Amino acid sequence: MKKVTKAVFPAAGLGTRFLPATKANPKEMLPIVDKPLIQYAAEEAAAAGITDLIFIIGRTKRAIADHFDKAYELEVELETKGKLRALKELREMLPPSVNYIFIRQPEALGLGHAVLCAQPAVNDEPFAVLLADDLIDAEPGVTRQMCDLFTYYQCSLVGVQNVDPSETGAYGIVAAERMADKLSRITRIVEKPKPEEAPSNLAVVGRYVLTPRIFHHLRHIERGAGGELQLTDGIAALLEEQQVLAYEFDGKRFDCGSKTGYLEATVEYALKHPEVAAEFRTYVEQRFCGPCRAGKA
Ligand code: G1P
Repeated sequence: MKKVTKAVFPAAGLGTRFLPATKANPKEMLPIVDKPLIQYAAEEAAAAGITDLIFIIGRTKRAIADHFDKAYELEVELETKGKLRALKELREMLPPSVNYIFIRQPEALGLGHAVLCAQPAVNDEPFAVLLADDLIDAEPGVTRQMCDLFTYYQCSLVGVQNVDPSETGAYGIVAAERMADKLSRITRIVEKPKPEEAPSNLAVVGRYVLTPRIFHHLRHIERGAGGELQLTDGIAALLEEQQVLAYEFDGKRFDCGSKTGYLEATVEYALKHPEVAAEFRTYVEQRFCGPCRAGKA
């Protein structure tokens, strides 16, 4: 019985939807309240018992490696200034048992290529993939839910949720046969189909658990949607020889790759952040709910 102990975080995309904020800074470093997206994803993986965090980074992404590095000068500074709470939080960011591995993706050739770049670190093991711009609020985290399913089923899984039929062109879309509650066997997967060509409106969101056989297929796929090497196309090839399950996870997903989703996540996470929730709630209520109640919205 294999267990998932490795996770891959593709973070080499260009982040064009957030320009100019992402001109010199990776989109994965955009904060939701006080934590960058990539840290939420890393914490989700660590909470699933994953010990090797493999980041696929591109140009302008050095900030991600710096973020998970020890910040000696900052720690000394916080200590001398007596800012001990901030120091403790910094030191306890992630469990000390976690290994960080950074791999450069020389060109942004697509998600499939980014995942293939992880092969030297993953080797012949099953692994999780987390797309940090899909922030999912769930307890236990979606990666934990999926790793537990992997331990049981020993096959690849993709996280899915229903989207509006008009939105299929933004996602990998699956056709699947129901197998158990929230779990289906994928029969087909297509990257970003037009609504009229989509096999369903069950969309892949950024959580996967894959068997290492995916690397073989990623090495052989051709450029697909958007001229990129697509992970979806690798999974479509994998399907020919192995079972792949679609899992309708428990949790609320925020598409932080879009400005609206990012803003929604910011509001929701602020409203439950121990330090700012009370003050922020008062602001929101006074600023927005007052006029609503008075019928002036
Ligand atoms: C990627 C995948 C797509 C998936 C989506 C989830 O697309 O290629 O299959 O549905 O993530 O967020 P991207 O959003 O990078 O265009």
